[in-house]
Amino acid sequence: MPVDRLPSREYITRYEKSTFENPNCPAPHGNIAARKNTMTRVVQIGDRAVPVWPEGQKFDTLDGVLHSTRFTDIDLYHPRLKQVILDRVEKRLDTKRHGRSACGTKVHHPERWGCPEATLLHERVLEFFRRAIKSSNAVADHAWANVYRNGDYCMSHSHIRATASFVYFLDSGDVDPADPESGQFAIRDPRFPRCCPLGDGCVTNSILCDTTPGSLVMFPGEVVHGVNPYHGVRPRITMSWNVNEQVIPGSPFIPGTGVEVVAD
Ligand SMILES: [Fe+2]
Repeated sequence: MPVDRLPSREYITRYEKSTFENPNCPAPHGNIAARKNTMTRVVQIGDRAVPVWPEGQKFDTLDGVLHSTRFTDIDLYHPRLKQVILDRVEKRLDTKRHGRSACGTKVHHPERWGCPEATLLHERVLEFFRRAIKSSNAVADHAWANVYRNGDYCMSHSHIRATASFVYFLDSGDVDPADPESGQFAIRDPRFPRCCPLGDGCVTNSILCDTTPGSLVMFPGEVVHGVNPYHGVRPRITMSWNVNEQVIPGSPFIPGTGVEVVAD
């Protein structure tokens, strides 16, 4: 069966009225000032008013649908955000582990973390979405953190309920000299010609993304992607979002998985 080339559906949208709130996935926490002016919106972290979208922040686009950017002010929010995530894993708060192949240990509900640093990232993701698809609407359907320990990996998969999915790289963990692509995030989708250099629709190549801490990758939720097995002692930490222009009715949690009832 032939596979449609990406973009397989309309991905570029028009400029419409702004939507910032989703009852399923509100911004995690904190004071977001001047939210209707994207050039001056800030999140207060301690005594610093940190811009949601730093002046001059640019992003790259590959094949029209893969977008990426890298923030350089990470010292302002990485240390505490990583600590909050690891603390919640240790205390098993909103934490779910499905198995070694299921993308590490997940920490859900960032809106419960009481963490302005998470709010800053959340707002940056929504702003990236609005800029990349030229829309003023952006609502997160679901957001969560991923903590990979030695041997964890993520089988190839796509995301439902997501016009776009995002991965933010907080900590790449340890480098494995014997396996330089340990923990590498990669796109392997037959709809991308660059994944199929030897034959139409036959995936023999991966699109490797920049996993430098501070990097943020955006791709259509339907794109097949995964993470190579991670080998290291220090935890590898990322965050993920599924974002749409409008709120999607219902819950992002798949019934029966137990994720929807994680305890706090
Ligand atoms: Fe994913």
